[in-house]
Amino acid sequence: MRRGRHLVCRSRLRSRSAVTVSKGRDDAARAEAQPAGGTPAGHAVAIESFLAELAAFREAASESLGRVADAAGLEQARVEFLGARSGRLKAIQKLLSGLAAGDRPAGGRHFNDAKAAVTAFFADVQERLVGGGAAAGAAAADAIDVTLPGEPVRLGHVHPITQTIRRVQEIMARLGFESVDGPEVEDQWHNFEALAIPAEHPARDPLDNFYLAVARGADPLLLRSQTSTVQIRVMENRRPPLRIVSLGRVYRPDTADATHYPMFHQVEGLLIEPGTTMAHLKSVLRQLASSFLGGDVHVRFRPSFFPFTEPSVEFDMEWGGRWIEMGGAGMVDPAVLAAVGYDPDEVSGFAFGLGVERIAARRYGVADIRDFYRNDVRFLRQF
Ligand code: PHE
Repeated sequence: MRRGRHLVCRSRLRSRSAVTVSKGRDDAARAEAQPAGGTPAGHAVAIESFLAELAAFREAASESLGRVADAAGLEQARVEFLGARSGRLKAIQKLLSGLAAGDRPAGGRHFNDAKAAVTAFFADVQERLVGGGAAAGAAAADAIDVTLPGEPVRLGHVHPITQTIRRVQEIMARLGFESVDGPEVEDQWHNFEALAIPAEHPARDPLDNFYLAVARGADPLLLRSQTSTVQIRVMENRRPPLRIVSLGRVYRPDTADATHYPMFHQVEGLLIEPGTTMAHLKSVLRQLASSFLGGDVHVRFRPSFFPFTEPSVEFDMEWGGRWIEMGGAGMVDPAVLAAVGYDPDEVSGFAFGLGVERIAARRYGVADIRDFYRNDVRFLRQF
């Protein structure tokens, strides 16, 4: 209520001569208590009026200062409000002694608050004006010199393992093999059973696989231990002829060393076509090896065993005068063809699997496959 009245009276309060002498009863009593001659004007000043003067002063000062746009305007506002001789604040200060003795401490506190607030606002505006000028100068100093040579931007690139995967996909595509993906979390059927790895087979040992704590129904799930799972998934859904290649992650609880890592990548190839023989398998592997490593790479088969191929081989490649073991392969076992609903008397084909890290390490001369996963840019930048 009082506040509203002050706002209404602002125009009057603004002028110095407009100091109102309260006519209220309390104020009158206070005025009487005031010794005569205690104020410059010779009569008492009510605290309410004094505070109203201060409030109006603050409001007018912040309004004016807020509108100041240059140094001249700022100086003008300073003289008007804070001027030492005839500024408005000075005028209000003179009223202090007109207050009743009991009101003076409070009046003084309010006076000091108003003075501090307006002085601080004045400093802010001053800084804004001066600071703006300084910033403009700095901007000129920072201006871009378009004649200077640019700074080279260092671009990232694809990880060497991903590069290897893409390269293998490209080579296999030229031989007519389509790239497909399969899930990394697998069930027993796709990782083992359909691949003729029965329940009692040591390959299913919990110590050799990452079984998940969750199961789908009664069927435990695991992180796939081989990409041969994708052979099954594709054959279940398609009819021959088939040429597919699948590259992805597999997981085995191996201790990490220079040639092992609990997660690595495999290339899985599958071809199902009438009249397929081991000779076709060898040609495809040789093509892949020669294209990927460059030069004439020889491929050698050694008899081996996998539950899902018959006959089975391990294959080595000779490159740079050395034979290196590359992976496993063979003719798809009739039991596997039957498991996916194919007639083993009508269709046949071959499958192979090899480690991506192994061929990448070979091609790039990396001695320790753990380097691929250390994420050290000094290593990765070389590819
Ligand atoms: N899946 C086998 C492994 O991980 C490799 C393989 C794939 C062997 C296809 C034969 C046929 O060792």
